[in-house]
Amino acid sequence: MPDTPAEVAASFPPPAGFAEQANASAELYEQAERDRLAFWAEQARRLHWATPFTEVLDWSDAPVAKWFVGGRLNVAYNCVDRHVEAGHGDRVAIHWVGEPVDDERTITYAQLQDEVSRAANALTELGLVAGDRVAIYLPMIPEAIVAMLACARLGAMHSVVFAGFSASALTARIQDAQAKLVITADGQYRRGKAASLKAAVDEAVAASDSVEHVLVVRRTGIDVDWTDGRDLWWHDVVNDASPQHDPEAFDSEHPLFLLYTSGTTGKPKGIVHTTGGYLTQSSYTHVNVFDVKPERDVFWCTADIGWVTGHTYIVYGPLSNGVTQVVYEGTPTSPDEHRHFQIIEKYGVTIYYTAPTLIRTFMKLGRQIPAEHDLSSLRLLGSVGEPINPEAWRWYRTVFGADRTPIVDTWWQTETGSIMISPLPGVTSTKPGSAMTPLPGISAMIVDDEGNQLQPGTGHGEQVSGYLVLDKPWPSMLRGIWGDPERFTETYWSRFAERGWYFAGDGARYGSDGEIWVLGRIDDVMNVSGHRISTAEVESALVGHSGVAEAAVVGATDEQTGQAICAFVILKARAANEDRDQMVDELRKQVATEISPIARPREIHVVPELPKTRSGKIMRRLLRDVAEGRELGDTSTLVDPSVFEAIRASK
Ligand code: WTA
Repeated sequence: MPDTPAEVAASFPPPAGFAEQANASAELYEQAERDRLAFWAEQARRLHWATPFTEVLDWSDAPVAKWFVGGRLNVAYNCVDRHVEAGHGDRVAIHWVGEPVDDERTITYAQLQDEVSRAANALTELGLVAGDRVAIYLPMIPEAIVAMLACARLGAMHSVVFAGFSASALTARIQDAQAKLVITADGQYRRGKAASLKAAVDEAVAASDSVEHVLVVRRTGIDVDWTDGRDLWWHDVVNDASPQHDPEAFDSEHPLFLLYTSGTTGKPKGIVHTTGGYLTQSSYTHVNVFDVKPERDVFWCTADIGWVTGHTYIVYGPLSNGVTQVVYEGTPTSPDEHRHFQIIEKYGVTIYYTAPTLIRTFMKLGRQIPAEHDLSSLRLLGSVGEPINPEAWRWYRTVFGADRTPIVDTWWQTETGSIMISPLPGVTSTKPGSAMTPLPGISAMIVDDEGNQLQPGTGHGEQVSGYLVLDKPWPSMLRGIWGDPERFTETYWSRFAERGWYFAGDGARYGSDGEIWVLGRIDDVMNVSGHRISTAEVESALVGHSGVAEAAVVGATDEQTGQAICAFVILKARAANEDRDQMVDELRKQVATEISPIARPREIHVVPELPKTRSGKIMRRLLRDVAEGRELGDTSTLVDPSVFEAIRASK
């Protein structure tokens, strides 16, 4: 949360040395201002187009945009082959670091081209054609990136499912997308132990009617069940395939991938991204926000490819720019808390992009750990996923950045595809906790209920907040929700329908210089360690337990994870007599298996009743007050205000 005194006290201008060498100067804002579409056309031309586009933007079918109309390109060619053809085949694309110590691989652009071509040939052999959907359920191993690029090369859509998701979450995503192929591994390393992954796929595929094959990477060597004819080893089919593959160019609006994200209902939304616009903005933001110099930088984005940050800033952004990057498989604390710092030191990481929750974890562990390592290679730091509290921001700059590196706090969403609001590191004077202003070419506003723009710079202490909206289309915007155009319009475009604005679901306020302070979600989506989880999803997992009659879930402020999940449940009469602790335990497990361990509630309170309005709506706001130990807000619309005595007693 922004704290006004801090905002007043300090802003951090870019160091002169940084500004001088930066890719982006203030001129970029002016260029975009002068002619927005010409500006985007110029950014798009940084890519290789097999057929040039004839129109920059067609917004006649709003809210479904067409960018770079008529253009044709191949995403994998742009991310891989193009760099090899330019003579950079020997440049390292990926320094891959496995979770087990000393399990490392270095992959050059030329080797990546070979691998992606082999995989594309193998997938073609399996009958995959442009437009098909492929579910990718893999840990952070090079094959995950190769698989994504192979799909892109063939014009097949990948739907990457975070490998921490459960079998039932995977089933729902496979079914919704009607995936024809699933790419997975036998298992994955989690905190030093090999855990099964294929078993969840077996369960999901048994419940699906679309999957023809399961391609399995051998990662851990643990035993797997095998279905002959359906299951194939990656090393059998990919290694034997030819490393020659001619990439076909696809229309700029050809779908590139699907990525499921939580919405305000229990059903996740399949966010659709397309080819030309997505790659243009991913590449543009990566080069300007992170100031990458492909010849000498070592970039490291610590996200998982299961989330959009991994898609855009591990795969498409860095590779389209021909950058060298580190990809790390495991958790930051495996085998101990030194791991990230050792990796930075060993590979000379220059740009490090992570989430506030991890910075807070490092803060808690103490600065003596980073102090044991040489972090002097770092020249730029990034943050994403949730508002970063000013204290963590300052600690990050001091401890990681030796009080000299700029920090880019980047605001964006699965739906926006790439960064939208962020400092430019060689231009912007940053304020700790604020993502600052929209990037050149991007337009965003904070408005009130009626859509009137809040007055920027109304002074300190003025905590007026409003809705964050994007009032002009942008190249990497989502093109829809898979199979549900109505939900697409309803979710994002109905709040300010007459004005044609996209409503992001976040609340925000302006600071004294007109900069944007994002305050977080104002809908029923929680943000736990930067992961989006909807209250409805967790509620439906809880009521899926036979002992639960009703459940209400809220996100409460948590020092470590940003928000933590707090659940209130009413038990069925039959279950009410069972051991409470055991019941709560079971329920937490239930959520972990239904969704993922990341969705496991921090607390579950068994209550006799839930606070409801006369129309039967659960008053989450009041439950949040209870969860955060605050005085209750307005209870006048409640049917029975006394329910709180009982709820309080349960805590
Ligand atoms: C939140 C992650 C404040 C926000 C890229 C948004 C942020 C949601 C920031 C999207 C930031 C992301 N400051 N809040 N720098 N970055 N958010 O789809 O609430 O996983 O709507 O995309 O994360 O989460 P998603």
